[in-house]
Amino acid sequence: MNVLVVGSGGREHAICYCVAKSEKADKIYCVPGNAGIEEYAECAPIGAMEFEKIAAFAKEKAIDLVIVGMDDPLVGGLVDELEAAGIRTFGPRKNAAILEGSKAFSKDLMKKYNIPTAAYENFTDPEKALAYLETARFPIVLKADGLALGKGVLICNDLEEAKEGVKTIMLDKKFGSAGNEMVIEEFMTGREVSVLSFVDGNTIKTMTSAQDHKRAGDGDTGLNTGGMGTFSPSPFYTKEVEEFCEKYIYQATVDAMKAEGRPFKGVIFFGLMLTEDGPKVLEYNARFGDPEAQVVLPRMKNDIIEVVEACIDGTLDQIDLQFEDNAAVCVVLASEGYPVSYEKGIPIYGLEEFKKHEGYYCFHAGTKYDGEQLVTNGGRVLGITAKGADLKEARANAYAAAEWVQFANKYMRHDIGKAIDEA
Ligand code: AMP
Ligand code: GLY
Repeated sequence: MNVLVVGSGGREHAICYCVAKSEKADKIYCVPGNAGIEEYAECAPIGAMEFEKIAAFAKEKAIDLVIVGMDDPLVGGLVDELEAAGIRTFGPRKNAAILEGSKAFSKDLMKKYNIPTAAYENFTDPEKALAYLETARFPIVLKADGLALGKGVLICNDLEEAKEGVKTIMLDKKFGSAGNEMVIEEFMTGREVSVLSFVDGNTIKTMTSAQDHKRAGDGDTGLNTGGMGTFSPSPFYTKEVEEFCEKYIYQATVDAMKAEGRPFKGVIFFGLMLTEDGPKVLEYNARFGDPEAQVVLPRMKNDIIEVVEACIDGTLDQIDLQFEDNAAVCVVLASEGYPVSYEKGIPIYGLEEFKKHEGYYCFHAGTKYDGEQLVTNGGRVLGITAKGADLKEARANAYAAAEWVQFANKYMRHDIGKAIDEA
């Protein structure tokens, strides 16, 4: 069959890698794609938000299956648009993608259905938010309601900071219309775990766990980023934690969405915090995480097309989802200065090494070809993933592979997976 993947990051590269391995895939396309994805897929310069153009492209290329990787088009309704054009598509419809698209919605859903999460209030009026803060306990967490590239969360240590935060989100509109509404929630402490899952509207099958590193600098310092590296599985996601989440979080979320008339088909990403009072949901995403996908998907044994088709057809209960009994670590190579300002267009060398080694992957995030030369084209440039028999071996392999790659302003964290040593 002909498959079209929508997106342009390391996550979509990992998805295309899995699709390319499937016996069911004939021709693969990706919009807009990137320089690395071109190895597996024919890329076309169509933006992920250009819904009509994507539908026309899918018709022209006789696409049998579309896989939407990114959040913006999902929340904006790309799946609805493609389905209306008769194109089979993997991902939640707009009315279900709201699980990620509105934090106020997801908090209200969790409250209504008793899904463990931080205590909170939603606000549309900045005056009321400011009045609420006068009696609040600190630190406290402010979240812009809508999509904000993972940056719409402010952790405020005192009343002054929190007042400034309300101004930033609701009055100055730093995150645009995402800040029309705001969630103020209790600050929680604990380890974070990302659990991605396949969902067919009724059945949910979770993938192996992972952990992201969101801050730019070593020791979790510096600004929040899209993610500087991941490892999988998380040693803190024990059997006990998993059983709790299965009982109170996973199926409960799928059932809640169905009960609300918003059946969810696609990937639900559970951002969990393991608190002293048990696991709680930090956030939901309606797609694979990035860079989580870069450590989870290479370990998946199943044919990805079979799994996503089962989600679309409502037959996920018949799939035996399996992951390799090993580990993977992804170290993101970024441009010095990310996430603020950085140079682009810098030549990249050394990628031929990945062809020579089994179990090593170089997923592209921000790259392009300048003539024949591969150059940097973004803040996050490459995701270097390596497998190993266990996490320590995978980490050593990933850091060794990160040295194969050279570009003048290469920047990476040196402590991805450090938590492994504390497990
Ligand atoms: P989110 O986009 O909601 O996952 O938030 C981004 C990051 O902010 C999370 O990965 C956490 O590190 C942090 N965070 C979000 N909510 C809370 C909370 N209630 N308590 C402590 N940290 C939080
Ligand atoms: N790595 C976090 C995310 O994909 O949102």
